[in-house]
Amino acid sequence: MNRQIIIFDTTLRDGEQALSITLNTKKKLRIALALEKLGVDVIELGFPISSPEEFRSVQTIAKQIKNCWVCAIARCIDKDIDVAAEALQVAKNFRIHVFLATSTLHIKSKLKKNFSQIMEMAIHSVKYARKYTDDVEFSCEDAGRTSIDNLCRIVEATINAGARTINIPDTVGYTTPHQFSEIITSLYERVPSIDKAIISVHCHDDLGMAVGNSIAAIQAGARQVEGTLNGIGERAGNTALEEVIMAIKIRQDLLGVYTNIRHKEIYHTSKVVSQLCNVPISPNKAIVGSNAFSHSSGIHQDGILKNRQNYEIIVPESIGRPEVKLHLTSRSGRAALKHYMQLMGYLDDDYDLDILYKMFLKLADKKGQVFDYDLELLIFVSTYGEIPKYFCLKKFNVQYSSIGIITAALELICGNAICADAAVGVTSIHAIYKVLTRITNINTILNKYEFFIKYHDSKIFVKTNIIMEFEGRHFYGTSSAEEVIESCVKAMINIFNDIWRACQIKVKLCKLHKM
Ligand code: KIV
Ligand code: ZN
Repeated sequence: MNRQIIIFDTTLRDGEQALSITLNTKKKLRIALALEKLGVDVIELGFPISSPEEFRSVQTIAKQIKNCWVCAIARCIDKDIDVAAEALQVAKNFRIHVFLATSTLHIKSKLKKNFSQIMEMAIHSVKYARKYTDDVEFSCEDAGRTSIDNLCRIVEATINAGARTINIPDTVGYTTPHQFSEIITSLYERVPSIDKAIISVHCHDDLGMAVGNSIAAIQAGARQVEGTLNGIGERAGNTALEEVIMAIKIRQDLLGVYTNIRHKEIYHTSKVVSQLCNVPISPNKAIVGSNAFSHSSGIHQDGILKNRQNYEIIVPESIGRPEVKLHLTSRSGRAALKHYMQLMGYLDDDYDLDILYKMFLKLADKKGQVFDYDLELLIFVSTYGEIPKYFCLKKFNVQYSSIGIITAALELICGNAICADAAVGVTSIHAIYKVLTRITNINTILNKYEFFIKYHDSKIFVKTNIIMEFEGRHFYGTSSAEEVIESCVKAMINIFNDIWRACQIKVKLCKLHKM
């Protein structure tokens, strides 16, 4: 029946190698545990010879991972292999991964050797690593630019020396899918002992073809794919494993292979990697980007509401993402607005769609995206005719010092009263957030803030976007001013008003509609 594709994760080795700061063992362990839960088959933990910390971290994690094979990389140097084996010895199942460059360019200009010497080194190192374990992988670094004759020779020789997995890296992301697939096909046709090893591929994304090349290699018979979560890695990154995994699942009809991955863990694992590595995911990134499942244009929203399959090939819940609602923007049609209202629990009789849609378009033009609490406000205004505001800024003072205490003092109109207070924070934003929390008595979590600063006509314009969480619900505040702090204070007050209104309005509308 179907062939299993072995998923080899190198987030902690090739991925981590490219980060601006190295991850500590605690963070690496959290990532490794998440990968284990995701169900990857092999986790490459690092390069133990590179430093004592790296050695300890490989050893510590190797001890704790029980449900996948762990692996460490080594150059074709005995000492490297000894140290890798020592770090991995504590593991239940381990693999030693030795690598050596095979392209003429690397052999000549980097290693200052000839191909016969490379053959000798590779054969010796595979045999040497086999002293420690039966599970030895050999990588032909820069295979993508290695002549096919030389590649066939070294693959045959290293299989005969005892390598169980032969990895074909496109180290510099140079090949194209058709070409890469031909390399794999040639190996199957020309290497006599090929059936004694698993052929693996390891692609880089310099030309944006890492995933395409990996899929083409699978079609040509490769049985292991190496990559990282979110595609992090050297330069443009490695093959994004979540993309390969989902392509295998969604295009089962075409590829006829499967993985042992627990797909529902994909979204969570991607988030863990992004947060701990401090590498944000671009919004349009396939599978895990924040926009990967959102529909903005009116035509698409309408099509989705009629049948999700019209514009969705992946069900977001299948990778552990909460169902993604339609983004309500000025491009949304009436059908989308009505659907959104239904999701919020409103019946058709509770509001006038014509009036609401007009008001919604006006707000969407101003605000960009419209959220559930905005719609509640619009219904409230269409019913009561006023925009209630509880908090109004009177004045504020923020004192920043790089060596001393940072304070924020604020005076607000709160309903009929005037309230003033001050707070100390670790940053100016933190101090403002603290004092506002004290005055409003509304306890929120400050999730995110970002500033966009424009310079135009000798004037500075600052736009602040803030996301806060209140009782599990997200509130998005925005404001503009000529100064960062002022824009931030205003955006936060907007959110506190949104929260206050969301609570007040719910109570009033419930009474009105007897919900
Ligand atoms: O990109 C590459 O060639 C590698 C090998 C060392 C496997 O990461
Ligand atoms: Zn690599």
